Amino acid sequence: MAWITSAPGRWPLNLGVLVAISLLVQADILIPKPAGQYETYLNAMELVDTSRKDPYATDGSDRAIMISMFYPISSQDCLKTSLVDYMPAKTAAFEDNVFSFPNGSFESFRLQTCTEHRNAVQDPRHFPLVLFSPGFGGPRFLGNAISQSIASTGYAVVLIDHPYDANIVEFPGGRVIYGANLAQDSPDPQKVVATRTADMSFVLDQLSDVSVVRQLIPGARCAFNTEKAAAVGHSIGGATAVAALQNESRLVGGVDMDGTFFSVNSTIERPVLVLGREDHNRSTETTWRDAWSLVRSWKEELDIVGFGHFAYCDAPILLELGGLSLPAALKPFVGTIEGHRALEIVTTYVKAFLGFVLRREQEKILEGPSDKFPEVRFY
Ligand SMILES: *[C@@H]1O[C@H](CO)[C@@H](O)[C@H](O)[C@H]1NC(C)=O
Ligand SMILES: *[C@@H]1O[C@H](CO)[C@@H](O)[C@H](O)[C@H]1NC(C)=O
Ligand SMILES: *[C@@H]1O[C@H](CO)[C@@H](O)[C@H](O)[C@H]1NC(C)=O
Ligand SMILES: *[C@@H]1O[C@H](CO)[C@@H](O)[C@H](O)[C@H]1NC(C)=O
Repeated sequence: MAWITSAPGRWPLNLGVLVAISLLVQADILIPKPAGQYETYLNAMELVDTSRKDPYATDGSDRAIMISMFYPISSQDCLKTSLVDYMPAKTAAFEDNVFSFPNGSFESFRLQTCTEHRNAVQDPRHFPLVLFSPGFGGPRFLGNAISQSIASTGYAVVLIDHPYDANIVEFPGGRVIYGANLAQDSPDPQKVVATRTADMSFVLDQLSDVSVVRQLIPGARCAFNTEKAAAVGHSIGGATAVAALQNESRLVGGVDMDGTFFSVNSTIERPVLVLGREDHNRSTETTWRDAWSLVRSWKEELDIVGFGHFAYCDAPILLELGGLSLPAALKPFVGTIEGHRALEIVTTYVKAFLGFVLRREQEKILEGPSDKFPEVRFY
């Protein structure tokens, strides 16, 4: 994709030009490379669902979404890692404005991914699929660091943009769909969740088709095993991950990161992990309390001290690495947790859950409090 650029060659060698340009272009800010045993390849693509009209489009068009995927590449097979943009340019400029960051802030973040590899990639069936649904209004990119970290331990992680709900979605060729202000104009979270769960099912359909998979992962010899995937989401994306378990039998487990439930009203026979906060737990969140007995499988709620609602996306680490601060009114939403620590806690517990539901691994950390993570409370 056009927004995936590699660093070498980006800086002109001529020093005079370099100085002139560096006044305009901010230095690269690197998202730390995850510690997992795999490098990760990143690609994005548009998927059009010709069987479904977009419920929010006013022109009767088919539902079109954007996805990106972090795909594991064994370290021996990775010939080159490069710096790639954290998000595409129009989205970055738009989000700077949303968060009141100085212009160029989001544009300066880089992920470190594998851009050249030896041999064919390992077969997609080797890596369990994980779907990631972002928070309301959010672009999928705010789950990049979390998703890349998960992928580095051997999962294919798909981030989904849900157009008209996401405040901006940038398609190939520069087409953009801006958010439709759904919260204000037509507050219907059930419709938002239903649209998102349909997007998830559509992504699973598509990734069972090898011709689609080859566009995303060049050289792939087969499609993904879509019969056994897991869903993870932030905020209403977390509600989506759990709601989807009711009707989507291909999803074997769901993680709700701090999302009030909507449309979780029937029996769920699959494991559910709810990640809450010190002051957002089953005694204060009635939707979790009401739905708890509907989950007739393994279930756990963990509440993390120091976390605000936005600590369940990349916000804390971005703020820290970029030396950025949020407007006063938004600060409580991140909490007091340090950025690297927030990322470590979220990814540790989400990976443990994925190991449990997708690889039948026994995960001690899900069984009770851990000395290594005193911030994490079992409700
Ligand atoms: C920042 O970018 C926006 C457009 O995204 C523009 O309207 C504004 O003038 C810019 N501000 C500065 C200080 O350059
Ligand atoms: C699940 O399916 C039932 C019946 O088929 C439907 O009423 C409900 O809206 C669906 N739930 C979701 C979250 O899609
Ligand atoms: C559950 O919620 C969905 C979406 O709001 C709704 O369509 C369905 O009728 C509800 N089912 C029950 C059993 O209340
Ligand atoms: C749940 O939240 C309430 C309100 O903030 C708090 O008083 C209570 O201690 C919390 N309970 C647990 C088990 O964390």
